[in-house]
Amino acid sequence: MSGEELHKSYSARWENMWTQDGVLKPGQAFDAAKSSPALSAQLASGGLDVCGKRVLVPGCGRGYDLVEFARAGAGLAAGLELAPTAAAAAEAYLGEALSGEEAAHVQVHSGDFFAWKCPTGEAFDLGFDYTFMCALHPNMRADWATSWARLLAPGATLACLAFPLNHDKETGPPWPVTEQMYKDLLLPAGFTLVREEPVPAELSHAGRGGKEALLVFRRT
Ligand SMILES: C[S@@+](CC[C@H](N)C(=O)[O-])C[C@H]1O[C@@H](n2cnc3c(N)ncnc32)[C@H](O)[C@@H]1O
Repeated sequence: MSGEELHKSYSARWENMWTQDGVLKPGQAFDAAKSSPALSAQLASGGLDVCGKRVLVPGCGRGYDLVEFARAGAGLAAGLELAPTAAAAAEAYLGEALSGEEAAHVQVHSGDFFAWKCPTGEAFDLGFDYTFMCALHPNMRADWATSWARLLAPGATLACLAFPLNHDKETGPPWPVTEQMYKDLLLPAGFTLVREEPVPAELSHAGRGGKEALLVFRRT
């Protein structure tokens, strides 16, 4: 199968996943019904400073992380979704969750991370990658890294909440990942590693404790 065929057939799974039993519900499958406590902690402590920044969250699902970024002062929190049903679910959820003022700083885009361009042509200052790289087929990972490099501005931050580490399954999604895998993919693509730390179990969603780490990269 060519890379293009793999990409097409693998990507088709997501709309099916979002619709197979009616629209995927909050708390079902990968949807944890809220943003990761590790992200909230980083935003509260200033470990990740998003004030006035343009933030991109690919594979944003229902958009829980966008709410966190908007409330932490992001100039723009943009979610990107391949599955049209996910994008619609995010619009509905955000319509309820956000105040009018917060909503002015949030956008949901439908599109494929590997080909998408921001409609304004502007690059992003911060990327957040959680439950996204692990969702992609392993053969798509090199393109994942170059796509991040394309969408982020020089000097931008890429925060990867690595998951699932220490995973006993060989196939996915979620495909098992290691911290080294993120470095091996991103360093040759034009990133430097700024920070790497394990996520304490109490800052992970239920069932994910001990399987997460934060790696922060800078786009050179
Ligand atoms: C494992 S889910 C995680 C969703 C969300 N981050 C969450 O934690 O609830 C991965 C998401 O990535 C989306 N996705 C997969 N491939 C994509 C692509 N090439 N471009 C944009 N989104 C994609 C899927 O539709 C799916 O909603």
